[in-house]
Amino acid sequence: MKNITMRPLRATDAQAVLAFLKTVGGQTKNLTFGSKGISVDVQEERCYLDMNAESEDSCELGAFDGGELVANGSIKRVSCCRPRMAHRFSVAVSVRKSHWGQGIATALLKRLIQEARIRGAEVMELEVLCSNTSAIRVYESLGFRIVGTYEKYFRYAPGEYADAYWMNLYL
Ligand SMILES: CC(C)(COP(=O)(O)OP(=O)(O)OC[C@H]1O[C@@H](n2cnc3c(N)ncnc32)[C@H](O)[C@@H]1OP(=O)(O)O)[C@@H](O)C(=O)NCCC(=O)NCCS
Repeated sequence: MKNITMRPLRATDAQAVLAFLKTVGGQTKNLTFGSKGISVDVQEERCYLDMNAESEDSCELGAFDGGELVANGSIKRVSCCRPRMAHRFSVAVSVRKSHWGQGIATALLKRLIQEARIRGAEVMELEVLCSNTSAIRVYESLGFRIVGTYEKYFRYAPGEYADAYWMNLYL
């Protein structure tokens, strides 16, 4: 974690976020997208970050190494308009391969758990591929527990699927 700083992402980070997602998407099969990143342009990402980087219902954090975005993590209220689900927050994290094993995901998740508590979260939830043992270890070390299995969670190609665990942290 030497020289790594964490801060909420801002609209001005939009381009860096999209580039980061392409990089990290090309480094793993564990994310919902590959090397093409997500289907969002810079203007849309700017608007998204403007509204969601820091709100009552969400928080988007970046980890920077000398000004370069090397990891991101986010929480999002599962539903803002359905009161019976307002106590649940989903969480996601990804780290550039060059920076794995330095405690960055753990640090981001610890901060996101605090941010979720501040927003009144009682349950944090995520899905993680059953084969993604390093992520599962990180989540378990922070208190997340497997609560179920989602068969065919990803479809890479017709007939090529991956199952995921649902993991929850009860705050
Ligand atoms: C899974 C992922 C998020 C983990 O990120 P990370 O920053 O490498 O995780 P951490 O460094 O916090 O923890 C990983 C390991 O490094 C170890 N570690 C923590 N701090 C460390 C340090 N300062 N130096 C060396 N190792 C350290 C941890 O103990 C842990 O070890 P373990 O696997 O033996 O338990 C990352 O590999 C990643 O982004 N993968 C691709 C995307 C992905 O899978 N995202 C999750 C989708 S659900």
